Parts: sequence; structure tokens; C-alpha cells
Amino acid sequence: MTEVQEARAGAGHDITPLLQPLRVGSLRLPNRFVMPGMQRAWCVGGAPTSRLGEYYARRAAGGTALVITEACAIDHPSATSNDLFGWITAATADAWRSCVAGVHRAGGRIFLQLWHQGGVDTGGTEGKPGFVALSPSGLERPGKPFGRPASLAELAEIKRAFADSAARAREIGADGVEVHACHGYLLDQFLWPGTNQRADRYGGPTLGERATFPAEVVAAIRAAAGPDFPISVRLSQWKEADYDAKIADTSDELGQLVTALRSAGAGLFHVSTRRFWTPEWDGSDLGLAGWVKSLTDAPVIAVGSVGLDVDVMATLTGSAEARPTGTAAIEDLVRRFQRGDFDLVSVGRSLIGDPDWVAKMRDGRMNDIRPFRRADLDFL
Ligand SMILES: Cc1cc2nc3c(=O)[nH]c(=O)nc-3n(C[C@H](O)[C@H](O)[C@H](O)COP(=O)(O)O)c2cc1C
Repeated sequence: MTEVQEARAGAGHDITPLLQPLRVGSLRLPNRFVMPGMQRAWCVGGAPTSRLGEYYARRAAGGTALVITEACAIDHPSATSNDLFGWITAATADAWRSCVAGVHRAGGRIFLQLWHQGGVDTGGTEGKPGFVALSPSGLERPGKPFGRPASLAELAEIKRAFADSAARAREIGADGVEVHACHGYLLDQFLWPGTNQRADRYGGPTLGERATFPAEVVAAIRAAAGPDFPISVRLSQWKEADYDAKIADTSDELGQLVTALRSAGAGLFHVSTRRFWTPEWDGSDLGLAGWVKSLTDAPVIAVGSVGLDVDVMATLTGSAEARPTGTAAIEDLVRRFQRGDFDLVSVGRSLIGDPDWVAKMRDGRMNDIRPFRRADLDFL
């Protein structure tokens, strides 16, 4: 046992298994830790500020193998109404290029997360007269109208914009892209029966049918970015507007979705849950990431309250302050990883709280970790 391994064991946890390298296509990662997309509202006109670039680079320097940027609007006027979020356009490309370079200099890898807000009100419309939110059926959530349904011509433009933004991400040096298809935004609104009431080929009673538009987006990105460019697709059952929502009621339905996206060119799945340990269906302790992993040959990223005792929405709505969990939760994470439930793990708020979270866990210094606090999110 090395000195560091002894320190890890002495601290009551040993994350050695999560420190193995991983190869995903052309991408080599030195360990299994990822920082997931988290909007900080630090962009100006869609361009990352130096503060955002330094924040990403600092997490890479602290041992995080892969940084996924905050949700960045694709280059389409309907993609977001809010200029405080990232936006990938010709005008912001140079700022994103230096952000990517900063993470590379710090020894990390970086994906840009590609996003369209769909029928969700993200604010900022006062600065955008004439902005119209586009979504599958003009609904923010079941029973709540917002904006209007996108026409087939508009959906073709949006698909093109996803592909163009991925090609731009590659051109500015990003190591991959992540397609945001979760949490109740545009692509997830196609998957969710409550917000997709379309009678054309993008709607339908089965998840396989409702996956048609998201799968076409992934295929368009694959065609534009080339065969080797890593493409992650981020999925969730839960929505910001409904924590109990489900796009897949059974593992068979989940299989339809995963198969459609994988055939379209998805290279990784980032499975968003609020708690990594919650069993998805009765009769098994597998979380949603574990189920996705059982249905695909692509690598899977798990996420959800790693190192913290309350979930992300408790933080964002202010219902509870998160506290660090003990070693048992980390042991459960390692147990699930060793069982083969997932290949990588995202650490969100814990990495906001302490940029050296990965390095401190690696070096057996769990007690030195600065805990995340709600006040770290200065926009709340
Ligand atoms: C401030 C904040 C902003 C977020 N923004 C995004 C985002 O832009 N894209 C995304 O896919 N998820 C977003 N999320 C969700 C996180 O990626 C992650 O899934 C969630 O925080 C759970 O991980 P954690 O429990 O380790 O924090 C955000 C979370 C937080 C706290």
C-alpha cells in the first residue's frame, strides 16, 4: 500500500477504483471524475467571461478529468431569451476558444453542452422584444401553455443549429459536446408525453416515436462533427417543473430511447438523477444510470448528490442547506462503480464548493474539503 492509499484508507474511504484512466473514442481521461454542466450566469452576451474560464480551469487543475460547460444556447434565435447563459455563435467563438484552451493548459478535457430552452421561461425577454419560445406543443409542462409549437421548418432550422454549434465546438478545440436532452428543456419536451402532443412524425404514444427528433439532432451532430468526435447525450426522468415525471415507465421503454440515440451516434450517456443511489424500479437497487448501462455498450456517467445529503433542487429552491455526507455514501458510490453500474461520475455542487474536491478525495484528505454552501451560487 502506498502512503496515499494508506491515507485514503485511514480517512475511511478508498476511491482508487475511480482513479483508473478511461478511453472514449479519441478521448483519454486520467480518472473517472466529471464536472457536469452548471449555469452560473457569468456570461456576457453569451460569451464566457474570464471569471468563468478561470473557474473551469481551476476545477481541471484540482483533478477533475472532464469539465462539461454550462448549458450553452445553440445558434438559433429561439434557443434562449437570457444573455447571461452561454451562447455558441460566431460572435462568442473566440471567448469560448480561450475558455477551452485554459482548461487544456490546466490538464483537463472539456465538452461544450449544447442546449435549447424550448418552452421554458428562463427570463431575460425584456431585452429581446419579439422573442417567441418554441417547443413541441407550446407547453412548459402539462397544462401550462408557454410560447407556441415549433413548425417542421423551424425544427429543421433548430436541428441545423445543433449541428453547426457542434462543428463550431470542434473547431474551437473542445474535446466533445454534450446534447442537453433532460430536465424539461426542448429535447426532453419531445420525450415527455405530457409536453409532446404532436400528431406528426415527432409525436406518438411510444418513447421510441417521441425520440425521433432528439435522435435526428444527434445524427445531424454526428454528420457535422465527424465519426470520432465524442458526443454525450444527457437524459433524465425528472424535470425542474416535476420531480416525479417519467419519460420511461419501464426498462423496455428506456431501451427504445437508448437504442435510438446510440444508433444516431451518441457516444456516451450522462444520466441525470438527483441522487445516484435511488433505485429506479422495484425489485432492484439499480439507479437510472445502472439501467442505461445495462442497455448499451456506450460509457455511462452517473450523477446526483455525490458528497452531499440533499439534492440539487433543494439547493436551487432554498428548501435546505446541503451538508457533506460521510464515508458510507462514498463507499456506496465505489461499490456501484465496481459492480459496473457506470463508467464515470459527475460531481456538481461539491466541485463548486471546493475546486480541489477530486484531489483531496484522491489524497485521503476528505476532512479538508470545503463544503458547498448555497451562498456559493451568487445568482440565487
Ligand atoms: C447552479 C446549477 C446550475 C445547473 N445548470 C445546469 C446546466 O446548465 N445543465 C445541466 O445539464 N444541468 C445543470 N445543473 C444540474 C447539474 O449538472 C447536476 O446534475 C446537479 O447539480 C446534480 O449534481 P450534484 O448533486 O452533484 O450537484 C445545474 C445545477 C446547479 C446547482
